[in-house]
Amino acid sequence: IVKAVIFDLDGIITDTAEYHYLAWREIAEELGIKIDRTFNEQLKGVGRMDSLNRILTFGNKNLSVKEKDYYAAKKNERYKELIKGIGPTDLLPGIEGFLQEIRDVGLKIGLASASKNAFTVIESLKIGSYFDTIVDAALVEKSKPDPEVFLRAAEQLQVPYSTCIGIEDAEAGVIAIKEAGMFAVGIGLESDLALADIVLPSTELLHLKQIIEIVEGSFG
Ligand code: G6P
Ligand code: MG
Repeated sequence: IVKAVIFDLDGIITDTAEYHYLAWREIAEELGIKIDRTFNEQLKGVGRMDSLNRILTFGNKNLSVKEKDYYAAKKNERYKELIKGIGPTDLLPGIEGFLQEIRDVGLKIGLASASKNAFTVIESLKIGSYFDTIVDAALVEKSKPDPEVFLRAAEQLQVPYSTCIGIEDAEAGVIAIKEAGMFAVGIGLESDLALADIVLPSTELLHLKQIIEIVEGSFG
């Protein structure tokens, strides 16, 4: 039986995944490393410093701790500039209706984000009131693919892990949901999200009744 739905933020609620990518692409270029959207799949859902480390490994480059701090901070400044103008119209298609559907049947709603900017983004989108809990990078030690952020969200919601549905656009996030013992809904390409229980091409196709039928079919 399903008791809660736990959402990733970037790339699920709103398209900030694109802004993370644009900011990282600029920083990488400054470091003489060219990244593209295919490589970016490996950065989705991954924390700030881990993302920088993956870019450096990809470009065969070493930096001192001090230099890494500099570039990570610079990426965040650029990202914050890019998200300055976002508002309620930047919700991805179907998301607000889906949140309302969950509310209407009395299930709980959580947010599990690896971003330290999660609260700011939720506030800009004006959807804070839908969430019973928000767990962001500041509240967990290990970033996705570790399940910690999803486990913490379920604990805050006071529901068993196995009664939660997690929604993710990143491979690292889908792994985290499965490691947490939850049902994983991936949004994106089957080829990127092979470990998800179901994959939908767009947030527009998120419908609670259909998903619950599949969950109950596979667990029941
Ligand atoms: C999310 C995004 C990642 C981002 C991470 C850290 O998981 O999907 O692309 O790197 O959060 O975000 P932050 O805003 O703290 O740099
Ligand atoms: Mg994401």
